[in-house]
Amino acid sequence: MAKVEKSWEKRLAGGPDQLTVDFVESLSIDKRLYKYDIVGSIAHAQMLAEQKLITKDEFKQIKNALIEISEEIADGRFVFEKEVEDIHMAVESALVVKIGDVGKKLHTGRSRNDQVATDIRLWMRDRIEIIQAKITLLQKALIKLANSYSEDIMPGYTHLQRAQPVVIASYVLSFVEQLERDFIRLKNCRDLLNVSPLGSGAIAGSTLSLDRKSTAQQLGFLDISYNSIDAISDRDFCAEFIFGCALIATHLSRLAEDWIIYSSNEFNFIRIDDAYCTSSSMMPQKRNPDVLELIRGKTGHVYGSLMAMLTILKGQPSGYNRDMQEDKVHVFAAGDTVEACLDVACAIVSHTTFNTKRISAGLDEGFLDATALAEYLVGKGVAFREAHGIVGSLVADCEKQNKKLGELTLEEFQKYTTSIEGDVYENLGAVNTVDKYATDGAAGRKQAKEQIEYWCEKLGQR
Ligand code: ARG
Repeated sequence: MAKVEKSWEKRLAGGPDQLTVDFVESLSIDKRLYKYDIVGSIAHAQMLAEQKLITKDEFKQIKNALIEISEEIADGRFVFEKEVEDIHMAVESALVVKIGDVGKKLHTGRSRNDQVATDIRLWMRDRIEIIQAKITLLQKALIKLANSYSEDIMPGYTHLQRAQPVVIASYVLSFVEQLERDFIRLKNCRDLLNVSPLGSGAIAGSTLSLDRKSTAQQLGFLDISYNSIDAISDRDFCAEFIFGCALIATHLSRLAEDWIIYSSNEFNFIRIDDAYCTSSSMMPQKRNPDVLELIRGKTGHVYGSLMAMLTILKGQPSGYNRDMQEDKVHVFAAGDTVEACLDVACAIVSHTTFNTKRISAGLDEGFLDATALAEYLVGKGVAFREAHGIVGSLVADCEKQNKKLGELTLEEFQKYTTSIEGDVYENLGAVNTVDKYATDGAAGRKQAKEQIEYWCEKLGQR
């Protein structure tokens, strides 16, 4: 491809040192924005034609050449030279090579500052929709899993100590709730960023009669931005996007951590399909949950991106500064990592089974029914704090005798309080406890089934 002289080579004597060229280039990172850059340029050129700043024929030439460039990049025929700095310059110089002086009119009333702010918004809008679709797929896989275990009970943990019994479906559905908030967070981020900065120029807009509403409309933005200085100078939406990704990663990491523990010999609560395990190069018996461990590990990258993005922004004086170019490194990395994690999480969830036999065999351990017993006493008119103390003593007693609460005789119970009567046994044991859960959103079978119905209906519409 013929070399196009950069317009600022007239201003800077001798051209940049090779060190400078290598250091300032962002093409290696931002070339993936090419489609958005080209779409944005076509909209800009159309607006220039509408405003009679270029002729209709010039617009056609520009548009056709830009489409050709897009095709060349897509087919891998386009030669990227890092000397051109970034994707904006790469496309513009290719345009000038193709159509000569007419190509030099494309940048009328535009700066790379508003151009890059537009490109990254366009990219992010699409990316958010893709991530949202992946979230929905994972939610659906979780609901399917929950539905298979809407009768089965497992221990619920706090402090990783046995707490109260829960329906397995409820446990699984807890992740659906978390992911739903992740979905909404991304929607809010998309709504906020969905304004067009194009026409804000380098910092102050332009003296030319640009029609910003036309480009905004062509590009599907909901509105234009209303302050040119802000439009080219903030990337708060990038930090927000990465924060959204970071919370998705957090939620996936906690699921991964649970399942790493649950698939250990000690727990043996779940079986992750062989397809999502790896073995050891030395120990032939091993079946390791490496995929889950990497979901947990990769969360660190996303947090790193968030910290990097915030730090890039914090010290910049108002207006565009080249620091901003680093945004894409972190925005892309966070998006890519979270997409990959959502994909594998979805596959694992779809291929995991709970060992219900093994789980129910251990449900008598750990006094999962103790809180229900205290609440039984509340039903008999005992103050809760009092009831809490009585059950605490009963549990301590049971531990000494190596008994479950349900194995105590009525006499033994009544040594502590006569408020305990013969009906107490219907309130003991994990199954009885779960079936007595009465509050909305509790971890009982009835509530879980209602929730499954709710989610099927809601996600069915997505
Ligand atoms: N590659 C730059 C970026 O990503 C484009 C904007 C450069 N603008 C400038 N005035 N140097 O931010």
